[in-house]
Amino acid sequence: MSHARVLIDPRSAVGPVDRRLFGSFVEHLGRCVYDGLYEPGHPTADEHGFRADVVELVRELGVSTVRYPGGNFVSGYRWEDGVGPKDARPRRRDLAWHSTETNEVGLHEFASWIETVGAELMLAVNLGTRGVAEALDLLEYTNLGAGSALSDLRVAHGRTDPFDVRMWCLGNEMDGPWQLGHCSAEEYGRIASRTAKAMRQLDPRLELVVCGSSGSQMPTFGEWERTVLLHTYDDVDYISCHAYYEQREGDLGSFLASAVDMDRFIEDVVATADHVRAVTRSDKTIAISFDEWNVWYQTRFENEEKIQGLDNWPVAPRLLENVYTAADAVVVGSLLISLLNHADRVTSASLAQLVNVIAPIMTEPGGPAWRQTTFHPFALTSRWARGQALRAQVACDDYDCAAYGTVPSLDAAASYDEATGQAAVFLVNRSQDAATEVEVEMPGVGTGDVAAWTVGGADPQLTNTAQAPDRVRPVPLRAERRDDGALTLTLPPVSWTVVAVGTPA
Ligand code: AHR
Repeated sequence: MSHARVLIDPRSAVGPVDRRLFGSFVEHLGRCVYDGLYEPGHPTADEHGFRADVVELVRELGVSTVRYPGGNFVSGYRWEDGVGPKDARPRRRDLAWHSTETNEVGLHEFASWIETVGAELMLAVNLGTRGVAEALDLLEYTNLGAGSALSDLRVAHGRTDPFDVRMWCLGNEMDGPWQLGHCSAEEYGRIASRTAKAMRQLDPRLELVVCGSSGSQMPTFGEWERTVLLHTYDDVDYISCHAYYEQREGDLGSFLASAVDMDRFIEDVVATADHVRAVTRSDKTIAISFDEWNVWYQTRFENEEKIQGLDNWPVAPRLLENVYTAADAVVVGSLLISLLNHADRVTSASLAQLVNVIAPIMTEPGGPAWRQTTFHPFALTSRWARGQALRAQVACDDYDCAAYGTVPSLDAAASYDEATGQAAVFLVNRSQDAATEVEVEMPGVGTGDVAAWTVGGADPQLTNTAQAPDRVRPVPLRAERRDDGALTLTLPPVSWTVVAVGTPA
């Protein structure tokens, strides 16, 4: 048994927990949309073809925003293909995922689905094969009241009120050589600036996200952000970060410490953005939209899954359908801890993705929908992290790992909502062999009833499947309050835990 102490001082706030931290991402990729959230023949499908069982799980997950329609897909997408009568919509080759896009689902269908799940739509424009004019066309169609050619077309297509989308991504991962229209930071900075200025001329209320790096391992990381922001600092509100983690060559210790990398990534982007603020003499502070993050077994995709062949363009193929383990759920929980600990600068984030494709929710055609292991830390964090994120000071053992050197074996984040008196502490125990007895001191906050749930702690390789959908799920953990008010609990090895104080809102 090892021991750790966590001290939470309510006077030491990181920043407000923005609900947009609990966003997700839906891309026209594999079975995320088709045979995922949309399956007209399914027994639970509504009149628009959307699965009600999936809607229910998305609501339970507590998703605040959904980024759409890509991802790599957006860099070849023509938004006009997805509006108007369905039987007139073209089938297209999607070069990003070597698939056929039927365009059965487009802006109207997806926006109505978003309204059903009660989330906010976040759109991306294509800056890979298109530019300023097409971004303006989409914005006119989406956000303007009637009275112009494209807003009238929207009305003619059955939607009188504008969709009123506020958050827009200026392209996707333009630093990546795999991206259609991939370009240099200079080129991208210029087109992003021109597009942002034009879009704001049409709708000044927009919140714009410029593309940062596709990962901190990219050779251009750092310099990309600096150059792009030098061109766009006054035009945008957010810079994006994307990060995917996987366990490589059986190295669980490094994998469990993935959040150490996410912490450094965020802090490096903040430092770069603030450098540009200094040199541009700006008053504005740029926020981070961490709009793709997750565990993704990407090497499996590169080596085994990629679709190829001149005549092989399947519709909704099974792609990126990672089956997550308990260890993956612990890492997802720890990445949420990292996001909360940077809530002052990361004010929007999207778990990539939502259904079937590296997703917390899986479905079978005509069959069930179920929660992957990773569903649980996300749902619990979205439910309990409210009010202000508080700084958590941790004293614990550490261990050495190949990827990140010496890392703490425990990490923590906390939140406190003064209005409701509700507090929460999120803990990850990275130790593979020892349970950890933790004392949590939170003087002045969290005096209500205490409950705790943990994910993991048994076999880290356990998974949930259609046949055994609840093998990995949160289990109650005993948390005791000492006479001095401190909480004590014992975290199993390789586990993620939430300690909730008070009643959830
Ligand atoms: O989420 C899967 C893919 O990962 C996205 O399409 C792309 O933006 C990223 O490389």
